[in-house]
Amino acid sequence: MSEHSHSRVSAPGSSWALVTGSTSGIGHATAVGLAADGYSVIVTGRDRDRAAETRRSVEAAGGRAFDPVADLGDSAAVRGLVAQVRDVIDGPLDVLVHNAGGGAFAPTESTPEETYDAAFNLHAKAPFMLTGAFAPAMAGRGRGAIVNVGSLSTSMAAAGTAAFQASKAALSMMTKSWTAEYGPRGVRVNSVDPGFILSPANEGIRDMYGTYLASLPAGRGGAPEDVANAVRFLVSPEASYINGATLTVDGGKTAVVPM
Ligand SMILES: NC(=O)c1ccc[n+]([C@@H]2O[C@H](COP(=O)([O-])OP(=O)(O)OC[C@H]3O[C@@H](n4cnc5c(N)ncnc54)[C@H](OP(=O)(O)O)[C@@H]3O)[C@@H](O)[C@H]2O)c1
Repeated sequence: MSEHSHSRVSAPGSSWALVTGSTSGIGHATAVGLAADGYSVIVTGRDRDRAAETRRSVEAAGGRAFDPVADLGDSAAVRGLVAQVRDVIDGPLDVLVHNAGGGAFAPTESTPEETYDAAFNLHAKAPFMLTGAFAPAMAGRGRGAIVNVGSLSTSMAAAGTAAFQASKAALSMMTKSWTAEYGPRGVRVNSVDPGFILSPANEGIRDMYGTYLASLPAGRGGAPEDVANAVRFLVSPEASYINGATLTVDGGKTAVVPM
């Protein structure tokens, strides 16, 4: 269903999953995977054409989809997304995946203030607002699952990425804060920290990393589906005793010392 049709989706008993950043890469794979698991999916990003593409993939996987676009760096747009979602779905929103991400890297002294704000708006404030909008209803029903897509950079540093890393680390901390806040009312919150994933985000640099990726314990870079599978597990009943955890999906990168 395109956001323009705006009709109310009618499927009593069916659960919805909201996957931010599902117009590309990891989010796209997660949306399609959750559809295969039986969820109706809210697909969202900024790019209307790619949103429609993911919507069609969700539908091809047997799911229903609603594809509103929103720039999550803009609080007004986040509020607009919340309103549209509430307006359109008629089943419970049981799954929330905070996956949208990206941004520019630069040395701290030459990072424009706007770049810093954009990183925190996208990686920390938008998830904070969306969780604030949807988690209370999950808690009221006594069930729900939230997954924060972080990055290895929540625990390891790289030069020139301070704003990006700090904003991802903020999201990582929210995994624990929300576990404390909503866990006792049946909402599980966990993180997935991807390593080097061969998504469109890395399109331009993947060739440069061939040798490095081959040297990982897994012997390859990750596919978006590798991360999507971790998200699907964490929101599933099989993960019912996993609260406030971080699942690293990095082919072994952080487990071994490079020699
Ligand atoms: N790929 C990796 O190696 C890797 C490693 C560690 C962590 N991650 C994390 O995994 C997540 C997904 O990354 P990916 O590799 O799948 O990247 P991707 O292919 O570039 O996808 C990023 C997604 O985020 C959305 N997005 C970006 N800025 C947005 C904004 N201001 N408002 C709304 N949506 C926005 C994009 O939507 P539009 O383009 O439609 O706006 C797109 O759907 C990100 O949080 C990233 O930091 C990735």
